[in-house]
Amino acid sequence: MALVTMRAIDKIYQLGSTQVQALRDINLSIAEQEFIAIWGPSGSGKTSLLNLIGLLDTPTQGELYLAGERVDTLDDDILAQQRNAKIGFVFQGFNLLPVLSAWENVMLPLQIRGARVSQARDTALAKLQEVGLAEQRDQRPDTLSGGQRQRVAIARALVGNPALVIADEPTANLDSANSYRIIELMRELNRRDKVTFIFSTHDPRLLEHVDRRIRLDDGQITQTEV
Ligand SMILES: Nc1ncnc2c1ncn2[C@@H]1O[C@H](COP(=O)(O)OP(=O)(O)OP(=O)(O)O)[C@@H](O)[C@H]1O
Ligand SMILES: [Mg+2]
Repeated sequence: MALVTMRAIDKIYQLGSTQVQALRDINLSIAEQEFIAIWGPSGSGKTSLLNLIGLLDTPTQGELYLAGERVDTLDDDILAQQRNAKIGFVFQGFNLLPVLSAWENVMLPLQIRGARVSQARDTALAKLQEVGLAEQRDQRPDTLSGGQRQRVAIARALVGNPALVIADEPTANLDSANSYRIIELMRELNRRDKVTFIFSTHDPRLLEHVDRRIRLDDGQITQTEV
């Protein structure tokens, strides 16, 4: 069964009196454990597409299924529950809380779920170790490099064992060497933890190691390459 299925999806934003069609007739099926890149120029609809897959937004038209269950018609609170249980997020600006240490940032999703601190802490420390940051566990984000911050964010995205991780331009604020390392790390975790990853990028050099690349232009899929 596909993890994500999109059928004839349109996304139209209402901007005052004008309408912006961000996505047009998107048909897409993503299997469990795939490692996928969404690429295309600025404004082509990458963020719009990821926001739909990540249940952060709902389509204007069409049908969206997650693990076989139709989700575009669910109420907001049920959508939020599904999101918390099944999806991890990595953002280009890292989105870490500045007053918390690395391990406290990683632990947050577990605390939101009501896990006990002692247990959540152990899980968070194990995830930090997996991304190579065991030694930096007590440091605040402003004392970490960009690449290290993004590793913390990846550990946080994975700490709740999601089926799917959505990463919107996770390397946009990194130099090319660090960008490459972050993609490699995501690839490693994809294989080891059997988590599906979908990330977006502007950078064609980061497309080498993906299972599939999906090209967007003007809100439409123009190319799918394996
Ligand atoms: N909240 C919004 N309201 C109105 N229009 C929007 C909104 N979000 C995105 N758009 C428009 O939808 C289109 C697709 O935007 P989107 O952010 O999905 O592109 P993108 O491929 O992620 O671009 P970038 O590479 O610059 O991040 C653009 O024309 C954009 O201006
Ligand atoms: Mg974007």
